[in-house]
Amino acid sequence: MNIFETKIICKTFQGLEQVLAEELQTLNAQNIQVIKRAVVCDYNLELLYRCNLELRTCLKVLVPVFEFESNSPEDLYNFASRISWEDFFNIDQSFAIDFTIQSEYFKHSQFASLKLKDAICDRFRNLHKGKRPDVNTEKPDILFNLHIYRNQVTVSLDSSGTSLHQRGNRIEQTIAPINEVLAAGLVLLSKWDKQSHFIDAMCGSGTIVLEAASMAINKAPNLDRTYFCFKHWKNYDKSLYNDICTELEQKITKFPYKIIGSDNSKKSIFTTQTNVKKAGYNSIIEVRESSIQKVIPPMGKGTLIINPPYGERMQTHEIDRLYKQIGTAFKEHFTGYTCGIISSDIEALKNIGLKPFKKYALINGKLDCIFNLYEMYEGSKRKPKTTNQDTSPNE
Ligand SMILES: C[S@@+](CC[C@H](N)C(=O)[O-])C[C@H]1O[C@@H](n2cnc3c(N)ncnc32)[C@H](O)[C@@H]1O
Repeated sequence: MNIFETKIICKTFQGLEQVLAEELQTLNAQNIQVIKRAVVCDYNLELLYRCNLELRTCLKVLVPVFEFESNSPEDLYNFASRISWEDFFNIDQSFAIDFTIQSEYFKHSQFASLKLKDAICDRFRNLHKGKRPDVNTEKPDILFNLHIYRNQVTVSLDSSGTSLHQRGNRIEQTIAPINEVLAAGLVLLSKWDKQSHFIDAMCGSGTIVLEAASMAINKAPNLDRTYFCFKHWKNYDKSLYNDICTELEQKITKFPYKIIGSDNSKKSIFTTQTNVKKAGYNSIIEVRESSIQKVIPPMGKGTLIINPPYGERMQTHEIDRLYKQIGTAFKEHFTGYTCGIISSDIEALKNIGLKPFKKYALINGKLDCIFNLYEMYEGSKRKPKTTNQDTSPNE
């Protein structure tokens, strides 16, 4: 059945579905429905462009085009051969197929996607005297997504192409960088009000502070990105897309508080500085070399989020000691702050020695993680120091 232009499926990481649904609400999406690792809403072309440009916690934006039942690769081929693929793209455009298959009928996922590819190529061969479009798995013009659950086959057009975590300006990475979509999710889950300071005191390559900075200045996360597959679709409305980009540019504001990225590794500091420069955030993000034990944040309200080492590369006693030091730093230096920590190390997290007011189950890469949020009220041991004691926003 052809179901083109009815629904938009926004994919995300497990645990971020609700945050993504809230983001879609702010875009005025209609009939929002949360499903596993995705959020579905009604289709319209403007919303499709906005989802790709503006959603911070979305990995891919798909538009389902065909749904049918099939219980063998041959059957899939026969059905797909009857589809007018030429309505979606031209022979001189490249294409590729992404797939997610969970089915007893399709034990070899790759084989099912090959059958779909053959059906598409054979259709073009029949129409164009033996000629077929090229396959380009790196940066195709047209990307199809084949989703099979049991005998339910859905073919979607992937409007994003590469994953939307690739914001278009990130260049350097250190060990274990967090995905941009997850980083943005952490900042949104922390409910940082953007009317106060923000710190990542274990910033690595700076992903979390970069995401926080784009939120602080109200910049759409993918405004600097140029590659989107929807630009190669037959219904691409360039003037609509340009108008949205112009509007988003005009919405960028100044941020009068501090965003600080610090780390005790020289290499991480260099990497963060490089990334901050590349993103054009020199005037927004301050980068400091410091251990978390010594970080003295600006006075007043703020939010700290850290993604510390999880212990795969450290001995248990070392990781316990590090997490104890983190807990002490929260208590001694972060009065007035909301402190967030993501870790897969449930045992090590107990060493923080504080009761979280919120806990979220998330996935970082392949690791099940907990994101704990602590409210550091007045009355902790923090004493005023002479350095970095700003109580007011920056001018
Ligand atoms: C998992 S990485 C953070 C990755 C980061 N979120 C990113 O996206 O690139 C953990 C970071 O903690 C830093 N670190 C470890 N112990 C520290 C300490 N005591 N004080 C400050 N930073 C520390 C490491 O240098 C490393 O960069």
